[in-house]
Amino acid sequence: MNYEKEKELASAESVKLVKDGMVVGLGSGSTAAYMVKELGKRVASGLSIVGVPSSENTRLLAIENGIPLKEFGEIKKIDINIDGADEFDPYLRLIKGGGGALLREKILAHNSKVNIIIADSGKQVKRLGAFKLPVEVIPFAASKIKEELTLLNLSPVLRKVDGSVFVTDEQNYILDIDISNQTNLTNLEIKLKSIPGLVETGLFIETTSKVIMGVVDKTVVLQK
Ligand code: 5RP
Repeated sequence: MNYEKEKELASAESVKLVKDGMVVGLGSGSTAAYMVKELGKRVASGLSIVGVPSSENTRLLAIENGIPLKEFGEIKKIDINIDGADEFDPYLRLIKGGGGALLREKILAHNSKVNIIIADSGKQVKRLGAFKLPVEVIPFAASKIKEELTLLNLSPVLRKVDGSVFVTDEQNYILDIDISNQTNLTNLEIKLKSIPGLVETGLFIETTSKVIMGVVDKTVVLQK
């Protein structure tokens, strides 16, 4: 299945929610990249907004597309945050971080009035966990946290790209863990966040306002 058209459709729909004067959180990944390009077109035709990028890749793309940017620390609140997801379930809970930007993405989501998730139909699941859950860890503690997660039967794998350890924008590492057998995700999140050196998880449990999903040649909006 080629999901590119669905990503484009969802992105175009999400950008219609952006109004003059808004501070816009800019997500990361291939779906968010369509949204950034679309937003750039609207800025070129007169829309006045400020973007806050969730990754260095998105920062570069936003600059290329003429979107004025501010640092996260400079703004009071994000009016609307638009981001992709690796999986979403019927409760609009998400797994994010396939691209490794989960930490800044979660910070933006937490500080946004409205969180819009844009996705192709392949991201919709009955139950989260076919996709491995990324957790961000500080390099100093990575091997000890890996041992601890192994004891919890979460089968952690240190993320590597082309044979080298993947390093996040915050200079951390990612462990991808298997949560397919987990029944209580809220408890899992609490347990994971209690491990010193484990900075953040890609589980987004409460943040999503709505999902705009591309389905073949149209979009469907899912809300709680
Ligand atoms: C990056 C993310 C992305 O939103 C997620 O991986 C989805 O990416 P894509 O739109 O390329 O499928 O969380 O950290």
